[in-house]
Amino acid sequence: GKSGYAHFMLKEIHEQPTALRQGLSGRLDELAGQVTVDELDGLETPTTVQFVACGTSYHAAMFGVETLRTAGIPAQTFLASEYATGPPPIGNETLVVGVTQSGETADTLSALREASARGAETLALTNVVDSTAARECDHVLYIRSGPEIGVAATKTFSSQLVALTLFSAALVDQRGEESRERVAALRALPSDLQYVLDESRTADVVDAYLDSAAYFFIGRGPNYPVALEGALKFKEITYEHAEGFAAGELKHGTLALVTGETPVFAVVTGDDERARKTIGNVKEVEARDAPVIAVTDGVAGVEQYADHVLEIPNTHPQTAPVLANAQLQLVAYHMANRLGRSIDKPRNLAKSVTVE
Ligand code: F6R
Repeated sequence: GKSGYAHFMLKEIHEQPTALRQGLSGRLDELAGQVTVDELDGLETPTTVQFVACGTSYHAAMFGVETLRTAGIPAQTFLASEYATGPPPIGNETLVVGVTQSGETADTLSALREASARGAETLALTNVVDSTAARECDHVLYIRSGPEIGVAATKTFSSQLVALTLFSAALVDQRGEESRERVAALRALPSDLQYVLDESRTADVVDAYLDSAAYFFIGRGPNYPVALEGALKFKEITYEHAEGFAAGELKHGTLALVTGETPVFAVVTGDDERARKTIGNVKEVEARDAPVIAVTDGVAGVEQYADHVLEIPNTHPQTAPVLANAQLQLVAYHMANRLGRSIDKPRNLAKSVTVE
């Protein structure tokens, strides 16, 4: 049942701290300051990684590219439906990773089979034990989210982000301070997320924007997939027009649509060049009268340009996106709820897409 929640989606959003604890269990060695993922023991570090995925899982894969980038492993994402019918060249030590919570998405299975047929080693990153992807791939890494009923993926996305962080860390040398900091941030993540869920002001914020023309979501680096995911979730369950962008890309065309009627959700975390440049992009939309809702850890200093602030604790570059995403899940949920939409079973969508 829904354990007192109005919808499975809201229940599953609130289950995320537990889902993440399950996903981290036995995988953090705090004494050594390292990640240990037994399931990856038999895996040689690949020279390149190709991710194949669809929808929300594709956004998780984009985050995976970013974590592998920081680990020094070149990676690319491919929409599974494109890969399946037009696979890219595969090198000698290319690992193809299918990110699929269900393990049954037809496009993703097709892409993985194509990769396998062309000699690539494959890994399934999935929630469902013994799913088709888990059975067919050479390796499997379970995200351990627990069952997800709502059609809109929520806790499985967060669990995918964490599993991809573990995956990237486990592939490379983990000595040093950087590794310790990551382990500490991962250890704190479930309670940080609990804090975000307990304190979120999203229900009040959405009330100010119930009948806007369109909704934009922007972010840079690891917050770019968060922006895309924020927009996808919003579209799926509110039926309103939303789009996500890399923060720097808006000015290359879509800025033409930005007006006082188009709220912009800006995900800005950390205190680095990326944050500063994203704030520059926020100023561009603010100058066109767009309401700005900043999802931020307060470090970046974006508050002064925002009409509303959705706060997250200051954590770590690889865990902040999980917290920011939770705020955007709640934005979509509360907006859909206020608009009276069918939240757990949005029109035209199925939980598992088994056709190509
Ligand atoms: C969106 C959503 C879909 C799935 C996509 C892939 O909320 O759930 O976009 O992410 O259909 O599904 P899996 O991960 O099962 O391969």
